[in-house]
Amino acid sequence: MLPMKVLFLNGPNLNLLGTREPDKYGRLTLKEIEAQVRAKATGMGISVEFRQSNLEGELVTWIQQAKGEFEVIVLNAAAYTHTSVALRDAIAAVQVPTIEIHLSNVHAREEFRHISLIAPVCRGQIAGFGAGSYELALEAAVIVKGASKPV
Ligand code: DQA
Repeated sequence: MLPMKVLFLNGPNLNLLGTREPDKYGRLTLKEIEAQVRAKATGMGISVEFRQSNLEGELVTWIQQAKGEFEVIVLNAAAYTHTSVALRDAIAAVQVPTIEIHLSNVHAREEFRHISLIAPVCRGQIAGFGAGSYELALEAAVIVKGASKPV
């Protein structure tokens, strides 16, 4: 059986992880988080691709291109979570099951972070576990893939 292919997309400022507000986002760089995810994914028979962009349109294009290429998208849309109708529409358009993730617990932070424009078109949300949110997303991807109906 071919390994499940999962696309991890990371939005603006996540290239600065490691030094960016470590009290909120931890001290691991995105590359280190990717390495942790890859190690866990290998053990689970999942193939992962990791990308980061500060550009909303580039993220939209990657979501569009995921159709037929990846079985699940894991999306940390960062600040675009709270602002982007374009990302929401892209997810709704391609119908690739998408899992929303955040390092921090957005619901325990400023009010503007409590609103996610993408949540209604995602299969679920994982927030507040630091780099663990990325690893938990692999478990969620397995559940989403195995479910014949939305979970
Ligand atoms: C974030 C939370 C967002 O509110 C913020 O804009 C980010 C990171 C997180 O992973 O905790 O850039 O998505």
